[in-house]
Amino acid sequence: MKCYNKIVLQQEVNVKYTTGGAIMEKDNKVSITVIRRLPKYYRYLTELLNKGINRISSQELSNMTGFTASQIRQDLNNFGGFGQQGYGYNVEELHSQLGKILGLDKIYKAVIAGAGNLGQAIANYKGFQDAGFKVLSLFDKNPKLIGIKIRDIEIRDVDEMESFIKENGVEIGIITTPKESAQAVAEIFERSGIKGIWNFAPADIKVKDDIIIENVHLNESLFALSYFMNNRKDYVGRD
Ligand code: NAI
Repeated sequence: MKCYNKIVLQQEVNVKYTTGGAIMEKDNKVSITVIRRLPKYYRYLTELLNKGINRISSQELSNMTGFTASQIRQDLNNFGGFGQQGYGYNVEELHSQLGKILGLDKIYKAVIAGAGNLGQAIANYKGFQDAGFKVLSLFDKNPKLIGIKIRDIEIRDVDEMESFIKENGVEIGIITTPKESAQAVAEIFERSGIKGIWNFAPADIKVKDDIIIENVHLNESLFALSYFMNNRKDYVGRD
């Protein structure tokens, strides 16, 4: 039976936590809101590393991220005690551990279905590849696009997508087709053994629930911007 994949904001998840450099299994419940903050910590830690800063206090992290120092300590404590009183956090260590928690210590193979404006923009952005997400191919149904390369990534016929995914062990499917095609594309991904779908189409796709779906809606962020511009008093800072 097919069902909706949903993220419920207050949902809790079991996490792995780290100690002494090793990731341990622990039946630890962490809220999805905490998990959603981890990429932001990771991004700031990457910046610190690039600047050669190797030690940071939770107060300094608070100034950078806008979260309170106690919030940061609480968040990071969910995954094991990273910091030391009076010392703060070792940036390299924390960066590496958060990277492991987020699964960024691996290389993921991805394909993009829909090689239009957005699909090509994603393929063109080298940053995803640098973070370990390698786009092997784009796929489209428009014969005029087939054979074109975006950087060195070829656009292939969508009819070849299922066999390509299976042959190459692709794990992530990215949907950048119009919304009318999104469900059909998701079903090809499902048949092909894709593990995660990054969906940009404004459609509620349904696949078996062992496939992770992450929906991206830039509109929602834009509408929030509009709201805060019109309700300045409600704006408490960046999340
Ligand atoms: P586009 O029209 O430039 O590209 C869509 C491509 O999908 C076309 O090349 C078309 O031939 C291809 N396509 C259609 N059906 C297909 C199928 N069954 N299999 C394979 N390829 C197929 O559109 P654009 O501007 O790139 O937008 C793509 C999608 O992304 C739309 O659903 C749009 O609403 C959405 N979008 C989402 C954003 C977000 O924040 N999530 C932001 C911008 C666009």
